[in-house]
Amino acid sequence: MQVIGTKIVVLGTGGTIAGSSARAGDNVGYRAGERTVQSLLDALPVAQGQPPLAWVAEQIAQIDSKDADASFWSQLHARCREHLQDERVRGIVVAHGTDTLEETAWLLAETLPATKPLVLTCAMRPATAASPDGPQNLLDAVALASDARALGVSVVCAGAVHAPRHVQKMSPYRVDAFGSGDAGPTGWMEEGRLRLVHPWPPARSVGAEPPQTLPADPGAWPWVEIVLSHASACGRQVDALVSAGVRGIVVAGTGNGTLHHALEVALLRAQEAGVAVRVSTRCPLGVVVGRPAHGLPLADGLSPVKARISLLLELMRSSPTP
Ligand code: SIN
Repeated sequence: MQVIGTKIVVLGTGGTIAGSSARAGDNVGYRAGERTVQSLLDALPVAQGQPPLAWVAEQIAQIDSKDADASFWSQLHARCREHLQDERVRGIVVAHGTDTLEETAWLLAETLPATKPLVLTCAMRPATAASPDGPQNLLDAVALASDARALGVSVVCAGAVHAPRHVQKMSPYRVDAFGSGDAGPTGWMEEGRLRLVHPWPPARSVGAEPPQTLPADPGAWPWVEIVLSHASACGRQVDALVSAGVRGIVVAGTGNGTLHHALEVALLRAQEAGVAVRVSTRCPLGVVVGRPAHGLPLADGLSPVKARISLLLELMRSSPTP
Protein backbone atom coordinates (compact mmCIF):
# COMPACT_ATOMS: atom_id res chain seq x y z
CA MET A 1 0.00 0.00 0.00
CA GLN A 2 1.45 3.35 -1.04
CA VAL A 3 0.60 6.13 1.39
CA ILE A 4 0.26 9.46 -0.39
CA GLY A 5 -0.77 12.92 0.79
CA THR A 6 1.36 15.62 2.30
CA LYS A 7 -0.59 16.64 5.38
CA ILE A 8 -0.17 15.25 8.89
CA VAL A 9 -3.29 16.09 10.86
CA VAL A 10 -2.66 16.47 14.60
CA LEU A 11 -5.85 16.06 16.61
CA GLY A 12 -5.83 17.59 20.09
CA THR A 13 -7.94 15.93 22.77
CA GLY A 14 -6.47 17.36 25.99
CA GLY A 15 -4.41 15.34 28.50
CA THR A 16 -1.24 16.18 30.35
CA ILE A 17 0.47 16.92 27.07
CA ALA A 18 -1.81 19.98 26.97
CA GLY A 19 -1.67 20.49 30.74
CA SER A 20 -0.49 23.52 32.61
CA SER A 21 0.32 24.18 36.27
CA ALA A 22 0.10 27.40 38.25
CA ARG A 23 3.62 26.82 39.60
CA ALA A 24 6.17 26.50 36.80
CA GLY A 25 8.01 23.21 37.01
CA ASP A 26 5.29 21.37 38.97
CA ASN A 27 5.02 17.89 37.42
CA VAL A 28 1.95 16.69 39.30
CA GLY A 29 -0.15 19.67 40.46
CA TYR A 30 -1.55 20.72 37.10
CA ARG A 31 -4.76 20.68 35.08
CA ALA A 32 -4.86 18.49 32.00
CA GLY A 33 -6.25 19.85 28.74
CA GLU A 34 -5.47 23.57 29.09
CA ARG A 35 -3.35 24.32 26.01
CA THR A 36 -4.56 24.07 22.43
CA VAL A 37 -2.93 21.58 20.14
CA GLN A 38 -2.06 24.47 17.81
CA SER A 39 -0.04 26.10 20.59
CA LEU A 40 1.74 22.78 21.28
CA LEU A 41 2.75 22.54 17.63
CA ASP A 42 3.77 26.21 17.54
CA ALA A 43 6.07 25.61 20.52
CA LEU A 44 7.97 22.76 18.87
CA PRO A 45 11.62 23.51 18.25
CA VAL A 46 11.11 22.69 14.57
CA ALA A 47 8.71 25.09 12.87
CA GLN A 48 7.21 22.66 10.35
CA GLY A 49 7.70 19.23 8.86
CA GLN A 50 10.25 18.68 6.12
CA PRO A 51 8.60 20.12 2.98
CA PRO A 52 6.41 19.01 1.33
CA LEU A 53 5.01 17.66 4.60
CA ALA A 54 2.86 20.06 6.60
CA TRP A 55 1.33 19.72 10.06
CA VAL A 56 -2.24 20.84 10.58
CA ALA A 57 -3.77 21.13 14.05
CA GLU A 58 -7.39 20.34 14.87
CA GLN A 59 -8.92 20.54 18.34
CA ILE A 60 -11.36 17.66 18.88
CA ALA A 61 -11.80 17.92 22.65
CA GLN A 62 -10.08 19.32 25.71
CA ILE A 63 -10.48 16.63 28.38
CA ASP A 64 -8.60 14.76 31.05
CA SER A 65 -8.69 11.30 29.51
CA LYS A 66 -9.94 9.75 32.74
CA ASP A 67 -13.24 11.32 31.64
CA ALA A 68 -13.22 9.81 28.14
CA ASP A 69 -16.68 8.59 27.22
CA ALA A 70 -18.83 7.40 24.36
CA SER A 71 -19.44 10.83 22.87
CA PHE A 72 -15.72 11.65 22.93
CA TRP A 73 -14.89 8.34 21.25
CA SER A 74 -17.65 8.76 18.72
CA GLN A 75 -16.41 12.23 17.72
CA LEU A 76 -12.77 11.15 17.55
CA HIS A 77 -13.66 8.07 15.51
CA ALA A 78 -15.69 10.17 13.04
CA ARG A 79 -12.91 12.72 12.51
CA CYS A 80 -10.26 10.01 12.09
CA ARG A 81 -12.45 8.21 9.55
CA GLU A 82 -12.92 11.44 7.56
CA HIS A 83 -9.21 12.21 7.57
CA LEU A 84 -8.35 8.65 6.55
CA GLN A 85 -10.55 9.11 3.49
CA ASP A 86 -8.96 12.46 2.56
CA GLU A 87 -6.26 11.84 -0.04
CA ARG A 88 -4.38 14.98 1.03
CA VAL A 89 -3.80 13.43 4.47
CA ARG A 90 -0.78 11.22 4.82
CA GLY A 91 -1.18 10.33 8.47
CA ILE A 92 -2.94 11.25 11.71
CA VAL A 93 -1.55 12.02 15.15
CA VAL A 94 -3.82 12.05 18.21
CA ALA A 95 -2.48 13.94 21.23
CA HIS A 96 -4.21 12.16 24.12
CA GLY A 97 -4.05 11.83 27.90
CA THR A 98 -2.09 8.84 29.14
CA ASP A 99 -4.69 7.48 31.55
CA THR A 100 -7.04 5.86 29.03
CA LEU A 101 -4.83 6.08 25.95
CA GLU A 102 -4.62 2.31 25.60
CA GLU A 103 -8.43 2.09 25.54
CA THR A 104 -8.77 4.69 22.80
CA ALA A 105 -5.94 3.06 20.84
CA TRP A 106 -7.66 -0.33 21.01
CA LEU A 107 -11.07 1.10 20.09
CA LEU A 108 -9.67 2.93 17.04
CA ALA A 109 -7.59 -0.09 16.01
CA GLU A 110 -10.65 -2.31 16.10
CA THR A 111 -12.96 0.07 14.25
CA LEU A 112 -10.95 1.99 11.63
CA PRO A 113 -9.43 0.76 8.38
CA ALA A 114 -5.64 0.48 8.58
CA THR A 115 -5.04 2.48 5.40
CA LYS A 116 -2.73 5.16 6.86
CA PRO A 117 -0.61 5.65 9.97
CA LEU A 118 -2.65 6.78 12.99
CA VAL A 119 -0.38 7.49 15.94
CA LEU A 120 -1.48 8.26 19.48
CA THR A 121 0.90 10.16 21.69
CA CYS A 122 0.85 11.80 25.09
CA ALA A 123 2.98 13.21 27.87
CA MET A 124 3.53 12.48 31.54
CA ARG A 125 4.59 16.03 32.33
CA PRO A 126 2.55 19.14 31.61
CA ALA A 127 3.61 21.69 29.02
CA THR A 128 4.74 23.98 31.89
CA ALA A 129 7.20 21.41 33.35
CA ALA A 130 10.88 22.30 33.62
CA SER A 131 11.56 19.48 31.20
CA PRO A 132 8.31 18.55 29.43
CA ASP A 133 8.22 15.28 27.51
CA GLY A 134 5.34 16.28 25.23
CA PRO A 135 7.35 18.12 22.56
CA GLN A 136 9.64 15.16 21.78
CA ASN A 137 6.69 12.74 21.87
CA LEU A 138 4.83 14.97 19.39
CA LEU A 139 7.85 15.18 17.08
CA ASP A 140 8.23 11.38 17.23
CA ALA A 141 4.52 10.91 16.53
CA VAL A 142 4.57 13.22 13.51
CA ALA A 143 7.63 11.43 12.14
CA LEU A 144 5.97 8.04 12.70
CA ALA A 145 2.73 9.21 11.05
CA SER A 146 4.80 10.13 7.99
CA ASP A 147 6.30 6.65 7.73
CA ALA A 148 4.47 4.41 5.25
CA ARG A 149 5.47 1.29 7.24
CA ALA A 150 3.33 2.44 10.15
CA LEU A 151 -0.09 1.51 8.77
CA GLY A 152 -2.96 1.49 11.26
CA VAL A 153 -2.99 2.49 14.91
CA SER A 154 0.14 2.70 17.04
CA VAL A 155 1.27 4.50 20.17
CA VAL A 156 4.50 6.39 20.70
CA CYS A 157 5.77 7.53 24.09
CA ALA A 158 9.31 8.14 25.33
CA GLY A 159 10.75 6.95 22.03
CA ALA A 160 9.06 3.53 22.16
CA VAL A 161 6.51 2.49 19.54
CA HIS A 162 3.79 0.19 20.84
CA ALA A 163 1.07 -1.89 19.21
CA PRO A 164 -2.49 -1.27 20.41
CA ARG A 165 -3.00 -4.89 21.51
CA HIS A 166 -0.02 -4.85 23.88
CA VAL A 167 0.36 -1.26 25.05
CA GLN A 168 -0.43 -0.57 28.68
CA LYS A 169 0.23 2.29 31.05
CA MET A 170 2.61 0.77 33.60
CA SER A 171 3.66 3.71 35.74
CA PRO A 172 1.66 6.59 37.24
CA TYR A 173 4.68 8.90 37.17
CA ARG A 174 7.59 7.81 35.01
CA VAL A 175 8.11 9.54 31.67
CA ASP A 176 8.41 6.12 30.01
CA ALA A 177 5.04 5.21 31.44
CA PHE A 178 4.04 2.66 28.80
CA GLY A 179 5.10 -0.88 28.13
CA SER A 180 4.05 -3.71 25.86
CA GLY A 181 4.45 -6.50 28.39
CA ASP A 182 6.30 -9.53 27.20
CA ALA A 183 5.65 -8.61 23.53
CA GLY A 184 7.95 -5.61 23.91
CA PRO A 185 7.75 -2.45 21.79
CA THR A 186 7.34 -2.76 18.02
CA GLY A 187 10.21 -0.35 17.50
CA TRP A 188 11.90 2.88 18.51
CA MET A 189 11.88 6.43 17.21
CA GLU A 190 15.44 7.67 16.86
CA GLU A 191 16.09 11.20 15.54
CA GLY A 192 12.89 11.12 13.51
CA ARG A 193 13.41 7.60 12.16
CA LEU A 194 11.57 4.42 12.95
CA ARG A 195 13.74 1.44 13.84
CA LEU A 196 11.59 -1.67 13.87
CA VAL A 197 12.53 -4.46 16.23
CA HIS A 198 9.49 -6.58 15.31
CA PRO A 199 7.56 -6.77 12.03
CA TRP A 200 4.77 -4.16 11.99
CA PRO A 201 1.80 -5.88 13.68
CA PRO A 202 -1.15 -6.89 11.51
CA ALA A 203 -4.21 -4.64 11.71
CA ARG A 204 -7.51 -5.52 13.37
CA SER A 205 -7.93 -8.79 15.17
CA VAL A 206 -11.65 -9.14 14.58
CA GLY A 207 -12.96 -10.86 11.46
CA ALA A 208 -16.28 -9.03 11.31
CA GLU A 209 -16.83 -5.70 9.55
CA PRO A 210 -16.13 -2.85 11.97
CA PRO A 211 -18.98 -0.40 12.61
CA GLN A 212 -18.95 2.56 10.19
CA THR A 213 -19.94 4.99 12.92
CA LEU A 214 -19.98 4.86 16.69
CA PRO A 215 -23.15 6.28 18.25
CA ALA A 216 -22.71 9.76 19.74
CA ASP A 217 -25.46 9.05 22.28
CA PRO A 218 -23.88 7.23 25.27
CA GLY A 219 -27.28 5.59 25.87
CA ALA A 220 -26.92 3.79 22.55
CA TRP A 221 -23.72 2.02 23.67
CA PRO A 222 -24.19 -1.35 25.35
CA TRP A 223 -23.50 -1.15 29.07
CA VAL A 224 -20.40 -3.22 29.85
CA GLU A 225 -18.67 -3.20 33.24
CA ILE A 226 -15.47 -4.59 34.71
CA VAL A 227 -15.39 -6.43 38.02
CA LEU A 228 -12.34 -7.66 39.90
CA SER A 229 -11.84 -11.01 41.58
CA HIS A 230 -10.04 -10.53 44.88
CA ALA A 231 -9.77 -12.04 48.35
CA SER A 232 -13.21 -11.98 50.04
CA ALA A 233 -14.93 -11.10 46.74
CA CYS A 234 -18.65 -11.75 46.70
CA GLY A 235 -21.31 -11.87 44.02
CA ARG A 236 -23.44 -8.95 45.21
CA GLN A 237 -21.88 -6.47 42.78
CA VAL A 238 -22.60 -8.79 39.85
CA ASP A 239 -26.18 -9.40 40.98
CA ALA A 240 -26.72 -5.63 41.31
CA LEU A 241 -25.34 -5.02 37.82
CA VAL A 242 -27.58 -7.69 36.33
CA SER A 243 -30.65 -6.22 38.09
CA ALA A 244 -29.70 -2.78 36.77
CA GLY A 245 -29.59 -4.02 33.17
CA VAL A 246 -25.90 -4.52 32.40
CA ARG A 247 -25.33 -6.20 28.99
CA GLY A 248 -21.78 -7.41 29.48
CA ILE A 249 -19.31 -8.05 32.30
CA VAL A 250 -15.56 -8.44 31.99
CA VAL A 251 -13.99 -9.98 35.04
CA ALA A 252 -10.35 -9.41 35.90
CA GLY A 253 -9.66 -12.84 37.32
CA THR A 254 -6.86 -13.91 39.61
CA GLY A 255 -3.78 -15.57 38.10
CA ASN A 256 -4.66 -17.89 35.27
CA GLY A 257 -8.23 -16.55 34.96
CA THR A 258 -9.49 -18.13 38.17
CA LEU A 259 -12.33 -16.56 40.14
CA HIS A 260 -13.31 -16.32 43.79
CA HIS A 261 -15.97 -19.05 44.19
CA ALA A 262 -18.67 -16.57 45.29
CA LEU A 263 -17.99 -14.33 42.29
CA GLU A 264 -17.91 -17.33 39.97
CA VAL A 265 -21.37 -18.46 41.06
CA ALA A 266 -22.76 -14.96 40.49
CA LEU A 267 -21.11 -14.68 37.07
CA LEU A 268 -22.50 -18.05 35.97
CA ARG A 269 -25.91 -16.81 37.14
CA ALA A 270 -25.42 -13.59 35.13
CA GLN A 271 -24.49 -15.57 32.03
CA GLU A 272 -27.56 -17.74 32.50
CA ALA A 273 -29.62 -14.53 32.59
CA GLY A 274 -28.28 -13.50 29.17
CA VAL A 275 -25.40 -11.21 30.22
CA ALA A 276 -22.22 -11.68 28.14
CA VAL A 277 -19.30 -12.54 30.45
CA ARG A 278 -15.62 -12.53 29.49
CA VAL A 279 -12.73 -13.54 31.73
CA SER A 280 -9.40 -11.72 31.67
CA THR A 281 -6.61 -11.72 34.26
CA ARG A 282 -5.34 -9.18 36.77
CA CYS A 283 -1.78 -10.17 35.85
CA PRO A 284 -0.07 -7.54 33.70
CA LEU A 285 2.09 -10.06 31.81
CA GLY A 286 1.19 -13.07 29.70
CA VAL A 287 -2.23 -14.50 28.89
CA VAL A 288 -4.56 -17.05 30.46
CA VAL A 289 -3.29 -20.44 29.36
CA GLY A 290 -5.68 -23.35 28.74
CA ARG A 291 -9.26 -23.25 29.98
CA PRO A 292 -10.04 -22.49 33.61
CA ALA A 293 -12.46 -24.96 35.25
CA HIS A 294 -15.32 -22.42 35.49
CA GLY A 295 -15.78 -22.67 31.71
CA LEU A 296 -16.70 -18.99 31.24
CA PRO A 297 -15.47 -17.51 27.92
CA LEU A 298 -12.00 -15.94 27.92
CA ALA A 299 -11.09 -12.45 26.74
CA ASP A 300 -8.69 -13.43 23.93
CA GLY A 301 -5.57 -12.45 25.86
CA LEU A 302 -6.74 -8.85 26.27
CA SER A 303 -6.33 -6.79 29.42
CA PRO A 304 -9.61 -6.11 31.27
CA VAL A 305 -9.99 -2.57 29.88
CA LYS A 306 -9.42 -3.68 26.28
CA ALA A 307 -11.61 -6.76 26.76
CA ARG A 308 -14.37 -4.35 27.80
CA ILE A 309 -14.04 -2.50 24.49
CA SER A 310 -14.01 -5.70 22.44
CA LEU A 311 -17.13 -6.91 24.23
CA LEU A 312 -18.78 -3.52 23.68
CA LEU A 313 -18.10 -3.78 19.94
CA GLU A 314 -19.26 -7.38 19.85
CA LEU A 315 -22.54 -6.43 21.51
CA MET A 316 -22.93 -3.44 19.15
CA ARG A 317 -22.51 -5.76 16.17
CA SER A 318 -24.92 -8.35 17.50
CA SER A 319 -27.67 -5.78 18.14
CA PRO A 320 -26.84 -2.63 16.17
CA THR A 321 -28.57 0.59 17.12
CA PRO A 322 -31.33 1.62 14.70
C1 SIN B 1 -5.04 12.36 31.15
O1 SIN B 1 -5.01 11.15 30.97
O2 SIN B 1 -5.70 13.13 30.43
C2 SIN B 1 -4.30 12.97 32.28
C3 SIN B 1 -3.06 12.25 32.63
C4 SIN B 1 -2.03 12.24 31.55
O3 SIN B 1 -2.22 12.62 30.41
O4 SIN B 1 -0.91 11.78 31.90
